[in-house]
Amino acid sequence: MCSNAGMRSFLIEGDHRRVLERIGLDSLEACLAFEGGVLVKAARKGRVVRRVDWAGRTYFLKRISGFRWREIPHEAEVLARLESEGLPVPTPVAVGSGGRAAAMITLGLPVVRTLEDALVRAPCSAEQAHRLLGRAAELLARLHRIGVNHRDYYAGHLLLDAQDQPMLVDLGRAEVRRRVPERRIVKDLAALEASLPPRVLDAAASQCILAHYFGDSGGPSQIDRLARAVKRKRERMRARAAAKAAAGVPNFHVNS
Ligand SMILES: Nc1ncnc2c1ncn2[C@@H]1O[C@H](COP(=O)(O)OP(=O)(O)OP(=O)(O)O)[C@@H](O)[C@H]1O
Ligand SMILES: [Mg+2]
Repeated sequence: MCSNAGMRSFLIEGDHRRVLERIGLDSLEACLAFEGGVLVKAARKGRVVRRVDWAGRTYFLKRISGFRWREIPHEAEVLARLESEGLPVPTPVAVGSGGRAAAMITLGLPVVRTLEDALVRAPCSAEQAHRLLGRAAELLARLHRIGVNHRDYYAGHLLLDAQDQPMLVDLGRAEVRRRVPERRIVKDLAALEASLPPRVLDAAASQCILAHYFGDSGGPSQIDRLARAVKRKRERMRARAAAKAAAGVPNFHVNS
């Protein structure tokens, strides 16, 4: 599925056409005007995410109006690519754009809670935290091996299923290259770390993240160098979030 700038397009995965027709989500215009289902997110101007439950299925409608509309066709392409590589991401079933607006419908993932809920808002032993962080780090390593960096790899964006296996959403800002540059690797790892308060992210948790990120690859000096870079970046992100908080700017990602 893809769409061209300036041209109106709306593509639906055949298996879902009839259901989407019934719901009233079978054209770009309909998706842009849709007010049904449950509002999930509308934190920023021109962006809306709604959840629609229908006959035992769950769909997520994401739409963007205005200059960031290209995120949608980009995200649909990234999702298709990651899905073909076996990563746990939403499956796009419809995507369209036109007139500086775009919409995408994905199949709902079996989400039970976020990694942030599990680590920050619920009681969690160090052993449990390390297991979850190890999985988040391994998923990030898989993403990077495919040549994709997330750019918003916060604990709140990592969704957990009933078996506490992590799944990825919010890939609209992801970048795709043949190889992810080191500074982007550092940024994603630092985002994960900065989104956890120091009481959760102690030295052992940080070490666990890097150990799982590298797995069998990477020598001690390479891991050491990256660990230092991640720590520097994480502290800069925390300081920036603290400065914003002091100025009254809301921060959704970094926990103190
Ligand atoms: N297919 C899906 N399955 C389950 N949950 C989903 C799905 N798509 C979106 N969500 C939920 O909706 C939320 C918002 O979606 P998403 O992060 O893609 O929107 P966004 O507008 O790009 O958000 P942000 O402002 O954080 O970048 C997600 O954090 C997740 O909780
Ligand atoms: Mg986003």
